[in-house]
Amino acid sequence: MPIRACRRAAVSLHRRAMPKHPASPRTIRTIRTVAALRREVTGWRRRRETVALVPTMGALHAGHLALVARAKALAGRVVVSLFVNPTQFGANEDFSRYPRDEAGDRAKLGEAGVDLLYAPGVAEMYPDGFATSVSAGAMAERLDGQFRPGHFSGVATVVAKLLLQAQADFACFGEKDYQQLQIIKRLARDLDIPTRIVGVKTLRERDGLALSSRNAYLSPHERAVAPALHRILVETGARILAGASIHAASVQGRAELRRAGFRKIDYLEMCDAETLEPLARLERPARILTAAWLGQTRLIDNEKLAPRRR
Ligand code: PAJ
Repeated sequence: MPIRACRRAAVSLHRRAMPKHPASPRTIRTIRTVAALRREVTGWRRRRETVALVPTMGALHAGHLALVARAKALAGRVVVSLFVNPTQFGANEDFSRYPRDEAGDRAKLGEAGVDLLYAPGVAEMYPDGFATSVSAGAMAERLDGQFRPGHFSGVATVVAKLLLQAQADFACFGEKDYQQLQIIKRLARDLDIPTRIVGVKTLRERDGLALSSRNAYLSPHERAVAPALHRILVETGARILAGASIHAASVQGRAELRRAGFRKIDYLEMCDAETLEPLARLERPARILTAAWLGQTRLIDNEKLAPRRR
């Protein structure tokens, strides 16, 4: 989405998201500028405290809070950023209807013991004349990148900015968005950003559905079907470990997703766990990744697949 158009949309959404009631005692401090963030972090660093950053787009759930818990275990100070980044949404995607609840998020972060909420507006992140973007290379063209053109460049640009703004020792990202995590690891290495990128395991509902802000879009019927996504990933992986060819197992996995009620399968692929290149044989640590549609909602998930030791 072009920055100028979404800045207008975001300003009105941002106003709507402002809290209507005074801060409760547990509510954490919120800052909205790069300068204020730098001041805070510089102060902590001067006192030799370590800092971890957890970037989010808000509408926080327990999956985000698992990242916060990891960040707290890694560092003395934890900053959570909240920015619904317009440049990673396509023209027909859900930027304007993406769930927003800043007051609710702040309360959850207060409970979780976060030190600071960094919630910049669009004009702070993309000031007039903003022109530079980060291209995330071949890894960004595959899988989700094929179906969401420009998405990973939007992600890579905003994450590079957040990492450079915060100058944290650690930054935590979920394996739920596995391709995003690998792209961010690559980008931090390639651009010599001295923040350690930490991947955190996917938090799931009891029935296996990965927690996601987009689960809120599912109808009760779709919600009942949704756990099949993870179940079928696990079964596909088990078939490969039992000797099925990767090709045959993925054809069967897609057929099962369709039978379960997914209306369209964007991809179901076995990839190298680090480069995300497609694998024909299970010789290296791998990941099965999928994206499939339930009604109007696109769900993604992935599962680890390690070759058996001989
Ligand atoms: P968002 O979708 O809000 O997710 C923020 C972080 O939470 C991501 O690292 C994501 O992988 C992680 N996460 C989401 N659901 C999870 C789950 N069930 N278990 C564990 N971690 C989970 O991803 C983004 O925002 C944006 O692209 C962002 C990186 C903030 C850049 O704009």
